[in-house]
Amino acid sequence: MYNLEQINEELKKNLSRERYIHCLNVANQAVELAGLYKADEESAFVAGVLHDIAKEMPYSKQLEILQNENYDPSTFTPKSNKIYHGWVGSVYAKNILNIQDQDILNAIRYHTTGRANMSLLERIVFASDCISLDRKYDGIEYFREACKVNLDIVIIDKLSNAMHKYIEKQKIIVQDTYEAYNYLVDYNNKKLERRYAK
Ligand SMILES: [Fe+2]
Ligand SMILES: [Fe+2]
Repeated sequence: MYNLEQINEELKKNLSRERYIHCLNVANQAVELAGLYKADEESAFVAGVLHDIAKEMPYSKQLEILQNENYDPSTFTPKSNKIYHGWVGSVYAKNILNIQDQDILNAIRYHTTGRANMSLLERIVFASDCISLDRKYDGIEYFREACKVNLDIVIIDKLSNAMHKYIEKQKIIVQDTYEAYNYLVDYNNKKLERRYAK
C-alpha cells in the first residue's frame, strides 16, 4: 500500500546517516509495540520511520512546505524546529509522499509536543522515539520494560522533562504539551483509583 522505496529515498535525501538510523530504530520499535498493543504494524512502521523526516530541513524549506498551512510567524522561527519538525514532517508526508492516513499523519505531527487524548498509534510512536535502540540515558532500561505494560509512563516522563526545561529557561510551554501531560496524568490516576476502589 505504501511506497516504501520512495519513503526510503526521501529519508536518505533529507537525513544524516545517524538520524536515518534513528528513524529505522524508531520504526522497528514502533512495530514491536504495535504487535504488543494490537495496533496496525504497517502504520506503526510508516509513522515511525517518517517521524523525523523534517528534523534537519533548512528553515527556508520548512516555510515552503507550510506555505498553505496556517501558522503563526511569531512562534514559527528558525529556532523552533525542535518543536515544529513533527508538524512540518506530517505536511511533507501528506503532500510529497501522498500519505492520507490521518492517524499516521497525527503520529508524525505530535511526536514532539504530544497532545491531549493521543491515539494508540500516536502514543506508540511517541514512546518509541523515547526508547529506540540508539537512545542512551539513565533509566532507559526501566522505561523499555515499562512500555510493555503502559506506554504512558515514558511519555509522561518526557513531557515532564520538557516542561521543566521550558520553565528553567522561562520559555513558553506549548499548549499541546501541557494538555498532553494533564490528560495522561489524569487518565492514569483515574485508572489507578478505579483499580483500588474494587
Ligand atoms: Fe523528533
Ligand atoms: Fe526522533
